[in-house]
Amino acid sequence: MSPSVPEIHARPTARVPRRLRQEVERILFTEDQIAQRIRSMSRGIVRDFTGREMVVVSLLNGTVMFLADLIRNLSLPLRLDFIGVSSYGAGTESGDLVFTKELRLDVRGRDVLLVDDILDTGKTLYQVRDRLRVLKPRRIKTCVLLNKAARRVEAVEADYVGFEIPDFFVVGYGLDFAERYRNLPFVGVLHPHVYARAAQPIKPTRPGKTRAQG
Ligand code: XMP
Repeated sequence: MSPSVPEIHARPTARVPRRLRQEVERILFTEDQIAQRIRSMSRGIVRDFTGREMVVVSLLNGTVMFLADLIRNLSLPLRLDFIGVSSYGAGTESGDLVFTKELRLDVRGRDVLLVDDILDTGKTLYQVRDRLRVLKPRRIKTCVLLNKAARRVEAVEADYVGFEIPDFFVVGYGLDFAERYRNLPFVGVLHPHVYARAAQPIKPTRPGKTRAQG
């Protein structure tokens, strides 16, 4: 872990809006904290990618907010493309990956910044990175908003990390549970009763999701 990555420091004044209190336990990172962190992360990325043929490859759909804010802070010429990844599983556990959208841009010889919302078990980033390597980029750097190191299964770390978090299931700022909560402007901890209630036995013919499209 980079020593410059902030630990949790939710502002005591940041309160979950009343309408969400049954579902979101607490706010981990406010809109302002996220914006501030993205600005400082971006400076490091700009330094590392200056003078390179940069391609930002972002994973759908969880990165939408993070990506939009991140690239606005990257004052560099860059190209942007997306990979769609869906995981077949139930509740809050990652399952097998299915690619739902392939990359369109040519990354051969270029410097890729691979962006995801959260690095959890590492299965997603590990597999996506392997798939990208086949396309012969000059190098691949990885960037995530959140890192949940406690749950890592695959040997993968991100080069740029917004925040380190403990093993909470988090939602908001693009992150979802059952496709909800992506539009929250903050990152918050989902009440365990929400996913306990939603847990269903997996039916083999119909995919449930952990990260349906991210
Ligand atoms: P892995 O386990 O493959 O996870 O590193 C990567 C993807 O799983 C989703 N994920 C989460 N989504 N809250 C979420 O809303 C979480 O705490 C969480 N943990 C993993 C996410 O889509 C991520 O890209």
